[in-house]
Amino acid sequence: MIEQHRIALRNVGRIDPASIQDYMDRGGYDALKKALQTPSDQVVHDITQSGLRGRGGAGFSTGLKKKYTSQASCVLLECMRYIVCNADEGEPGTFKDRIIMEGDPHLLVEGMVIAAYAVGAERGYIYIRGEYHQSITMIRSALVQARRHGFLGNNILGSGFSLDIEVKLGAGSYLCGEELTLLESLEGRRGYPRVKPPFPAESGLFGKPTLINNVETLSHIPAIVINGARWYRQLGTETSPGTKIFTISGEVNHPGYAEVEMGIPLRELIDRGAGGMKDGKRFKAALLGGAAGTFVPESLLDVCMDFDALKEKDAVLGSGAVIVMSTDQSILTMLDSILRFFEHESCGKCVPCRVGTRQLVDLLKRLKGAEGKRPDHVDALVYQSELMANTSLCPLGQSPVLAIKSAVRYFRDELETPQISQSRWR
Ligand SMILES: Cc1cc2nc3c(=O)[nH]c(=O)nc-3n(C[C@H](O)[C@H](O)[C@H](O)COP(=O)(O)O)c2cc1C
Ligand code: SF4
Repeated sequence: MIEQHRIALRNVGRIDPASIQDYMDRGGYDALKKALQTPSDQVVHDITQSGLRGRGGAGFSTGLKKKYTSQASCVLLECMRYIVCNADEGEPGTFKDRIIMEGDPHLLVEGMVIAAYAVGAERGYIYIRGEYHQSITMIRSALVQARRHGFLGNNILGSGFSLDIEVKLGAGSYLCGEELTLLESLEGRRGYPRVKPPFPAESGLFGKPTLINNVETLSHIPAIVINGARWYRQLGTETSPGTKIFTISGEVNHPGYAEVEMGIPLRELIDRGAGGMKDGKRFKAALLGGAAGTFVPESLLDVCMDFDALKEKDAVLGSGAVIVMSTDQSILTMLDSILRFFEHESCGKCVPCRVGTRQLVDLLKRLKGAEGKRPDHVDALVYQSELMANTSLCPLGQSPVLAIKSAVRYFRDELETPQISQSRWR
């Protein structure tokens, strides 16, 4: 068994998630009480000092985001700020936010109220993936209880700070997890991305400064407020402090999740976190970060799982999804399903991605059907994905290049020679 260090999951499985009393009995809402007695800019400072980075995929500094949002000037006299929690969780292989929302919904609510106080937001939204029925129920019930106990609503705990939070539902679009598209959707429009800049901290929901964070990111905030930035920095690595929930699936004995310190070697995560390779099969590759992620081969099994160590290897941590493949499985088939996923999820707003995702799928089809070595098709795949990355409007069109280039880098032979790639996965 792997040694877990639980911050975001510390109450999961230990409390009745439907009971605010259970949460409070384990110190719940103490961080909010402490934060409300601290100047808001000090709370921002502490979060920045902790080094917490966004757990939604990009790994941006959470403290800096809060600083930019709180400092953003408003054009209108009456300055409204928003806080939005991204609970859309659409990345394939990722199910960490769901575990928090179902197992400890008050932790998210508390983290969100503290973050809102830090940036001066008066209104909040939790945008939850529509298929997550249990998460929706648990969060809605937690909000009602929090309001009853004075942790939400007008003049929270007599501090003079007011905030209300509403749940909004996503309707199954992967792209609506992208922050600017999510804001469009929240405003009631079709899920098309906006051009960046401006960034949400400057002009977000309804054109107002908006802090948008992932569920897991916000769930770290109460522990940081209680224990301090220095405590948090002692966990994980120098540039990626703290813990991370990894969701491990595929050809392992015990698929599931584990919250561990950042920097854990991939090998340990698979062997001790997921019981090793299924039925003694041989490891071939892991797809890190889901569809918008990268393949890593056996030679990288000892890589440290943090934002920068992976970046040095041209890999990504992303959402923390680890999809493990054995030598029984085909990279070509996996790549095919990734590219078909992007083709399906492309919103069609810009030509490079609308046409490009289709072309990538066609190229892969040709590769699969080709006889003998077809290096020209592999090169075309790389060329097309690079072209898309350079010309697409939003990050979705810039994503396929990651999986393609890592597959070509480590498994070129297999892609060029389809017969090596015969798969049991059809
Ligand atoms: C296509 C696409 C889909 C995304 N889906 C999600 C998602 O489901 N959940 C999430 O938290 N972030 C998602 N992101 C990342 C968000 O745009 C954004 O970076 C995140 O909400 C910021 O929160 P954080 O700083 O706490 O990580 C997605 C990004 C892209 C490009
Ligand atoms: S890159 Fe793709 S998803 Fe993004 S705007 Fe263009 S068509 Fe839509």
